[in-house]
Amino acid sequence: MAKTHVKMSVNGREVEGLVEPRTLLIHYLREQLNLTGAHIGCDTTHCGACTVDLDGKSVKSCTIFAVQAEGTNIITIEGMANADGSLHALQEGFRMEHGLQCGYCTPGMIMRAHRLLQENPSPNEDEIRFGISGNLCRCTGYQNIVKAIQYAAAKLGGAPVKEAAE
Ligand code: FES
Ligand code: FES
Repeated sequence: MAKTHVKMSVNGREVEGLVEPRTLLIHYLREQLNLTGAHIGCDTTHCGACTVDLDGKSVKSCTIFAVQAEGTNIITIEGMANADGSLHALQEGFRMEHGLQCGYCTPGMIMRAHRLLQENPSPNEDEIRFGISGNLCRCTGYQNIVKAIQYAAAKLGGAPVKEAAE
């Protein structure tokens, strides 16, 4: 099948390559860029494990073709750590509040939470639950994911964060 040239920014780095028109963005990220943090949980736009940030929106990367991402700015979980290598507040929050068990949903959940906090820096619990409603977690029951996002919101907003109970 004829291939199409694509070029985009991923985690602040310009990348380009050749893709088939049918190549999904998630497959381009994982198989050609070796960015395997975004996961494939369903391939049918249900689970959100493949969520990335694309031009300031949360996008399920199994839902768009790589060619549709031409010229865009993408952030994946690999681009979330701080410049000094320390964990982003959300990553720290998921760790401190035990916001994961198997971890399969976590990269997508964090990318969705990242955009949620850009849109609403201090969401209440209902707003968090609604904001992540497109991302499924089979393990945690969501309570600690909510706490993890609250932890990050507090930290990013400069408020003291409470220590998680062991
Ligand atoms: S793999 Fe994309 S929504 Fe499930
Ligand atoms: S931690 Fe296992 S699916 Fe969310």
